[in-house]
Amino acid sequence: AADLDFSAPGLDFEPIRPNTEDAVVIPEGFQQQVVIRWGDPILPGAPEFDFDAQTPEAQEGQFGYNNDFCALLPLPDGRRLMINNHEYVTEEFVFRGYDADNPTEQQARISWAAHGLSVVVLDDKKPVIDPLNRRITLTTPFELRGPAAGSEFLKTPADPTGTRSLGTMNNCSGGVTPWGTILSGEENFHQYFAHADSVTEPATRERLARYGIEGAETDRKWERFDSRWDLSQQVNEPNRFGWIVEVDPHDPTSTPVKHTALGRFKHEGANIRVLDDGRVAAYMGDDEKFEYLYRFVSDGTVKPGGSGLARRHNMALLDSGTLYVATFTGDSPGEIDGSGTLPADGEFDGAGAWIPLAHNDTSFVEGMSAEEVYVFTRLAADKAGATKMDRPEDVQPHPTTGRVYAALTNNSDRGTDGHAPADEPNPRNSNKHGQVLELDDDPAGTRFSWRLLLVCGDPADPSTYFAGYDKSQVSPITCPDNVAFDSRGNLWITTDSSDALGFNDGLYAVPLEGPERGHVKAFLSVPRGAEACGPVIEDDLVLISAQHPGEVDGANADNPASHWPDGGTTQPRPSVVAIWR
Ligand code: FEO
Ligand code: CA
Ligand code: CA
Ligand code: CA
Repeated sequence: AADLDFSAPGLDFEPIRPNTEDAVVIPEGFQQQVVIRWGDPILPGAPEFDFDAQTPEAQEGQFGYNNDFCALLPLPDGRRLMINNHEYVTEEFVFRGYDADNPTEQQARISWAAHGLSVVVLDDKKPVIDPLNRRITLTTPFELRGPAAGSEFLKTPADPTGTRSLGTMNNCSGGVTPWGTILSGEENFHQYFAHADSVTEPATRERLARYGIEGAETDRKWERFDSRWDLSQQVNEPNRFGWIVEVDPHDPTSTPVKHTALGRFKHEGANIRVLDDGRVAAYMGDDEKFEYLYRFVSDGTVKPGGSGLARRHNMALLDSGTLYVATFTGDSPGEIDGSGTLPADGEFDGAGAWIPLAHNDTSFVEGMSAEEVYVFTRLAADKAGATKMDRPEDVQPHPTTGRVYAALTNNSDRGTDGHAPADEPNPRNSNKHGQVLELDDDPAGTRFSWRLLLVCGDPADPSTYFAGYDKSQVSPITCPDNVAFDSRGNLWITTDSSDALGFNDGLYAVPLEGPERGHVKAFLSVPRGAEACGPVIEDDLVLISAQHPGEVDGANADNPASHWPDGGTTQPRPSVVAIWR
């Protein structure tokens, strides 16, 4: 296949214009093709998709809903293995005439089957039914591992050992490990647990509340069909979500793992850097307003080679090590007024430190046991005095420079109503458009330096910053979410903006080195109401995930706002699209 030649400087394509089309819009000279859609069969015997004949059994063998993170791994025979997260289900788009007050058990079970991950073999750009294909859902058995496995906080009536849990949910972003497995972040798990208002024990109530688990019924009302969603029946089931999950996609019989050593929060994803001595660091974000950036450094060292034995050794690296949380200090104190005006030194920049929270059985947080640190990590990070950030999304080390890039997507509450005011890493109050942070981190140490690469928005907005590049030449960009790199080292960013600038979300490229550093160019946009995610940038193709097309106010399955990708009067379907030159 033709090389895409995404060479910096001057990524070789004409940027697309901001638009509101119900289509994937790509630059001149490129082609596109839908690779897979929600409901396409991936397991033997699964039926073709039929919007009006959905069943849990069908969905268990079909591509799930709202595909977010996407990974592409080479197979020895030249084919590739694609792995996708299915973050959540929007029932009113999935079921005609959905009655939110009275969902049926059948609808709930379809939703459980539509969550999780898919593993599917691609022959060129075409999914094929293959023995490696797999669906992981909200009922698939998982192993809980690491320092909190077996803890009292993880035991439930269904699992008195606290080491076996069922399913994964709200899998947002993720990462590919150097040993060929997939990491996936369990993000907004709080929304599935009902009747926190029945919990009387103060410490338990505080812990639930710190993760946003409050109130009586849930929106989806799954608690009517399975007591594990009902906190009046047991309180520990939420503690079995909010982890980083690791899946070995090369072994469809393997039990996926939840790594408690990486802490429990609303994980966006995790990405690995290998240290010079062979240990590994995982960088992670907790995606909520005023939450934190985390790092884990393993005790063990990576075993090279692609054998199953090496993979099993390497999968244990994330079970033993030190968990840290970040603090940031700006070097222009007193000059940050919340408007986004650059300080006199010309940069939003400064220093930072990684504060250790726990190492295996040892807690570094006063008044908390190691198990408490791992299971209630947000409370530990609060006590450690971590810096409150503008919604940390993807955090990913650059493949060659080792610099770490973090998307801080937005924070409309910054500086309002008694919330933390702007600071140098989060320099705008009521921050609608987000920023991209660059860290120079030595993963063997505990100090780093940092600067903002981008302060996003319409370049005509004086509060924006594009690494000093001429703002008349850049594409507008808002709400950075996922990041990726091409083989030349350029940074690629997808956005999840909910229409913050009035045009569709998309995929953007930006060189990081030389005179083109900061020259943001829009490569594609996704259909109306969709979020762009899961970018994969290979030398011969780009994959983009269009999550929740048609998700705009007032739309539902009886009144669709998008007919992408099938056209006509069809219902919208979250899909993966391939683009090539
Ligand atoms: Fe699911 Fe942080 O986006
Ligand atoms: Ca998402
Ligand atoms: Ca500064
Ligand atoms: Ca995301």
